[in-house]
Amino acid sequence: MAATETINFTRGVPANESFPVAELTAAANAALAANAEAMLQYGPSAGLASLRVWLAEWQGVKPEQVLTGNGSLELVEFLCTALIKPGDVVFTESPSYDRAITLFRRHGANVIGVPLQHDGPDLAALEKLLGQHKPKLFYVIPDFQNPSGATCSGDKRRALVELARKHDLLLLEDAPYRMLRYRGTPEPTLFSLAPERTLHMTSFTKLVAPGVRLGLMIGDAAMLAKIGKVAEDTYISPGYFAHGVTLEWLKAGRLDPQIGKLKALYAPRLDACLAALDKYIPDAVATRPDGGFFLSLTLPEGVSSTAVRAAAAQLNLNLADGLAFFPQGGGERFLRLPFCALTTAQIDEGIRRLAEGVRQARS
Ligand SMILES: Cc1ncc(COP(=O)(O)O)c(C=O)c1O
Repeated sequence: MAATETINFTRGVPANESFPVAELTAAANAALAANAEAMLQYGPSAGLASLRVWLAEWQGVKPEQVLTGNGSLELVEFLCTALIKPGDVVFTESPSYDRAITLFRRHGANVIGVPLQHDGPDLAALEKLLGQHKPKLFYVIPDFQNPSGATCSGDKRRALVELARKHDLLLLEDAPYRMLRYRGTPEPTLFSLAPERTLHMTSFTKLVAPGVRLGLMIGDAAMLAKIGKVAEDTYISPGYFAHGVTLEWLKAGRLDPQIGKLKALYAPRLDACLAALDKYIPDAVATRPDGGFFLSLTLPEGVSSTAVRAAAAQLNLNLADGLAFFPQGGGERFLRLPFCALTTAQIDEGIRRLAEGVRQARS
């Protein structure tokens, strides 16, 4: 690989070659033949009725417990409009997904970070914070977290919902990577442990393609109706056209084989990342996830991610700014490495350049 080729370890996007183009073409034709009027007309803001029914059956809930949207992130925005007033406190993990932090702040929330450990949020710190604040919600990404790659252990999930019950805390569980598990066994969702106080979100962005913009929230029907009213007042109804095509693709039984294809594509990329880190930067502490899109590094003592980013840029390696993931500062030695959209050769060369950037930042 030429040293002049730029390598981007920046955004957590799926690989272009993962998109099921031929299947979506067939699904679009079939969907329009079967369902054109519903797909092309306005309708309820909660989503295309037949899609809601399919998703409800898939998730084991009632259709009124499903709210679809144009991706899952916008559902967070609608939830904020429905629930958050300026000055309200929102807890997130620290680090957490930077765009979600931005949305909470846009609504005037005081975002407080609960330190994230390798096996989920630090529950002692959470309990202490719950003694000091009454948050509107705790935003949690329990599976293959963005940006760290950490997965919350089963024991912590059970303890977390107990704490949530004790303190009457609403949990917003964001799980877009959950189905991309390359090894090991899944832990229960927070929603399955505490359906009465959890809003669970997932998305087809990472499973089909970002372009289908189909995300969903499941939970209490009355709360979803309130959030759905904000959606109605914003866009009347979500993108039924893409949602109708995705429904046809789902009904054709494409989801499970697609997940199998994604695992076969991405697992070797994760392994290449881990092997290259062991080879080139053995003294950096890395998360070792069993799935998802990300792993993260804590750089060696005395080496800042800002200095490494600057050195890496000179070596044609782009790295994301890690500071934005920390709602209250910290993260000076944190780097997120999204590996799914890079080939194993690019990953090996990218991490070799990263090691060189770390060496330069050290000296
Ligand atoms: C944790 C998390 N939530 C939500 C999203 C956005 O998903 P969507 O495309 O469904 O809006 C992402 C995308 O990177 C993400 O990492």
